[in-house]
Amino acid sequence: MATLDLDDISKIYPGSRDRAVDHVSMKIEDGEIIALLGSSGCGKTSTLRMVAGFESVTEGTVKLGDRIVNNLKPAERNIAMAFEGYALYPPLKVRDNIAFSLLRDRTPRAEIDKRVGEISDMLELGPMMERYPPGLSGGQQQRVSLARALIRKAAIYLLDEPMSQLEPQLRALLRARIKDHLIANKMTTVIVTHDQTEAIALADRIAVMDNGLLQQFGTPEDLRERPSNLFVASFIGEPPMNLFSAEVAGGVLQVFDNEGAAAFTLPLRQGALPPGSRVMIGMRPHKLRVSEDLAGATLRGRVVTNHWLGDHSHVGVQVGGCFLIAVAGRHVVAPVGAEVGIIAPEDAVHVFDVANGQAIRHGLHDQATAA
Ligand SMILES: Nc1ncnc2c1ncn2[C@@H]1O[C@H](COP(=O)(O)OP(=O)(O)O)[C@@H](O)[C@H]1O
Ligand SMILES: [Mg+2]
Repeated sequence: MATLDLDDISKIYPGSRDRAVDHVSMKIEDGEIIALLGSSGCGKTSTLRMVAGFESVTEGTVKLGDRIVNNLKPAERNIAMAFEGYALYPPLKVRDNIAFSLLRDRTPRAEIDKRVGEISDMLELGPMMERYPPGLSGGQQQRVSLARALIRKAAIYLLDEPMSQLEPQLRALLRARIKDHLIANKMTTVIVTHDQTEAIALADRIAVMDNGLLQQFGTPEDLRERPSNLFVASFIGEPPMNLFSAEVAGGVLQVFDNEGAAAFTLPLRQGALPPGSRVMIGMRPHKLRVSEDLAGATLRGRVVTNHWLGDHSHVGVQVGGCFLIAVAGRHVVAPVGAEVGIIAPEDAVHVFDVANGQAIRHGLHDQATAA
């Protein structure tokens, strides 16, 4: 087990002038599970491969425990990695693929059998043990690759999109089992994923990347309640945050629609924002409540869409020229065209700088300034 400390690391591939990874710094605690989350091409795999030693580090240092490992070969770093492309050994049976590192280390037969049995049970690989990788589906090969990494005793586990090929039900089952396994064995783990549900379900902290840059590194709650900028605010959450431009005027927050016309106002505590500030505001759909009580609501609007998704509703409401989505945990009976109220609690409103996208404050309370 070990800590991992990335200090200002960058990756510039030969022949390129761009940074695939751009000055990323983060510290991962011993036994912590973190996720690198971002869209395809944002630099997740490049970051992981620099930690593993399959790619050189262009700038910065990678420290594993108290050793700087920049110049060590992968085999000298004591890491276990599950590759995006699986990298299984085709001539070896599944059983021997999984046991490969234990066989190489001359682990006693009885212990190999015990550990292979445990890991293959956990990943539902039992019936496949005597088969060969080329005859398996992508999802099956992916589970073998994951088993081969998790069975090892290593300082750190690096898992690159480890469940991307699995069926949703199996993925949910294995996610829970893998998380229990990582926690029970205190395994320091970096999981690469583009799936925020997976990141939230598995990780203690999530590093959100975009275009090589680390946008925020925090707990799932930090990302949801205290997004550090507009990128994270709009990337995390489903449906995404409602975003509008606004201006502080006459002691209230005047909100504009896409055409720049005044749409509605939000009450503002005195001193919460300097008068005249032009900002972007965000409101999480899950924080807004649809209410039939018009008098008691923050805003009034007209229902434009109302979709029941089995256990909650997505209600689209037109407020002036602005379209907002609210999520209700029940059947909202208001039909399309009905007038409804929207209750926006003060802590549901996030304020961002228009110029650079950085968060200014979370909530309109005096004390809830952005970190
Ligand atoms: N071996 C390589 N040579 C040149 N460019 C690469 C190489 N691998 C990745 N890239 C580029 O680096 C960027 C980040 O890629 P990658 O780390 O694979 O992203 P992700 O895993 O987030 O999808 C992309 O623009 C990709 O095209
Ligand atoms: Mg990748």
